[in-house]
Amino acid sequence: MTSRGTLPTINVVAGDASALDAPVLAIVMAKPAALDASLAALDEATGGALARTIARGDFTGRRDEVLHLAGGTRGPARILLVGAGDAPDRAVALKRAGALAARRASALDAGAVAVVVVPGAEGTALEALVTGLTMGAWEYRDLKSPPKEPRSPVTSITVVVGDAARDEGAVRAGESVGAGYALARRLQMMPGNLCTPDFLADTARDIAARHALEVTVLGRREMESLRMGSFLAVAQGTPQEPRLVALEYRGGGDARPLVLVGKGICFDTGGISIKPAERMEWMKYDMSGAAGVLGAMEAIARLRLKVNVVGLVGATTNMPSGTAINPGDVVQASNGTFIEIVNTDAEGRLVLADVLAYAKKYDPAAVVDAATLTGAVVIGLGNSLHGVMGNDPALVQELLGAGTRAGEPGWELPLWPDYEEQIKSDTADIKNTGGRAAGTITAGLFLKVFAEGYPWVHLDVAGTAYSESDLVALPRGGTGRPVGTFVEFVRARAR
Ligand code: BES
Ligand code: MN
Ligand code: ZN
Repeated sequence: MTSRGTLPTINVVAGDASALDAPVLAIVMAKPAALDASLAALDEATGGALARTIARGDFTGRRDEVLHLAGGTRGPARILLVGAGDAPDRAVALKRAGALAARRASALDAGAVAVVVVPGAEGTALEALVTGLTMGAWEYRDLKSPPKEPRSPVTSITVVVGDAARDEGAVRAGESVGAGYALARRLQMMPGNLCTPDFLADTARDIAARHALEVTVLGRREMESLRMGSFLAVAQGTPQEPRLVALEYRGGGDARPLVLVGKGICFDTGGISIKPAERMEWMKYDMSGAAGVLGAMEAIARLRLKVNVVGLVGATTNMPSGTAINPGDVVQASNGTFIEIVNTDAEGRLVLADVLAYAKKYDPAAVVDAATLTGAVVIGLGNSLHGVMGNDPALVQELLGAGTRAGEPGWELPLWPDYEEQIKSDTADIKNTGGRAAGTITAGLFLKVFAEGYPWVHLDVAGTAYSESDLVALPRGGTGRPVGTFVEFVRARAR
């Protein structure tokens, strides 16, 4: 079983949308003052309905607005007017509008959708539209029996562009990033009994095989030799083999690599400090950082970026059992630090401690980790912004910029030294929780102890990697974040 997810075929055509024999044509627009001249022939085919709709103000082009019209006497059978809104960044607006267009076309059982942006888009704006289209067409159906009434979700997308030769590259780039998101979201949607540490490792092997990357998979024995007492403390409660996965992409000659690190807790029960039963099922998403890293590696390899990137995943499950760690236990991480585990539910930082220490062996130019690390980040920043913190102000700015470009905004939280007091331990060097106050920051300060000797940024994606409510352009479930942030960061560093 691979984990690429269903990907639509994407065709590129230039010319007049009125001539397209498509079941649905989506026209993506922002605040049209009047009907754009490029739609004159289509308007004529609809007997002027398009122009009248806009003149009457029935479609204003605001974000998330969708109006469904019948097609005309020739050309597309149905027309969806999709609002892009007036967000300052057109790429971000088109990514969302593209996802909404494809999602609505899928709901119509149209099977295929043609899409045109008015006025035309090229470059990164067109790329973002296509990424959005692939995301909106993506559904997780692997565990559903075929419906009695056969459905026809969108499996084919035709992008109407200004110049097919000029725009082909941007469309294919958008498709590559879309493939990364699909891979990440499939891993996220998979329940914990299927998306195990071994499955994450197999997914990394699959990516490596398809794109000729190098892959290394460590298990309990290898981690014992490396004295990863912190990671292994979490893994000692489960019979499943823990996995530390390294995926190496070489596109940048002998340059120092960027290292992406992901928290891969395939299910987080809390361990002996067990979580309440209510809503615990959402903790299958606790491997979203790992999904983000693997999805980004898929996209980076497809884009053939001229840069060296190592993806590291720390995968296990956090279980209560007779062999599990207990509150008060002290373990030693691979960098020598003694850790008092006062709450076994603060397990992500224990896994990342040894993976961040391991990252040093690559002599990295920079390390960025992503983790569903704290409930506190959801209280502080909600479900739109991920938390950003690090030991290097310039790298923090880079990640904030990358997130903005990807439509995955982050917000910096300070690794304020006063709060180090909260994670000092009476018996060991540090303890793994610092209480409720500044919970996201004390988690970041804990990681900082292990992210030593290189520029490092931590993304706390607990509020953004998945959604418990429908997001209009995307359904409930995994959002694929931060695949886009990782890709934008790496790409800006590429030669
Ligand atoms: N995986 C959770 C964090 C989380 C919470 C992710 C909500 C997504 C949604 C993490 O392992 C955890 O349990 N953190 C604890 C830390 C506490 C014990 C210091 C938390 O946030 O409550
Ligand atoms: Mn936990
Ligand atoms: Zn967790």
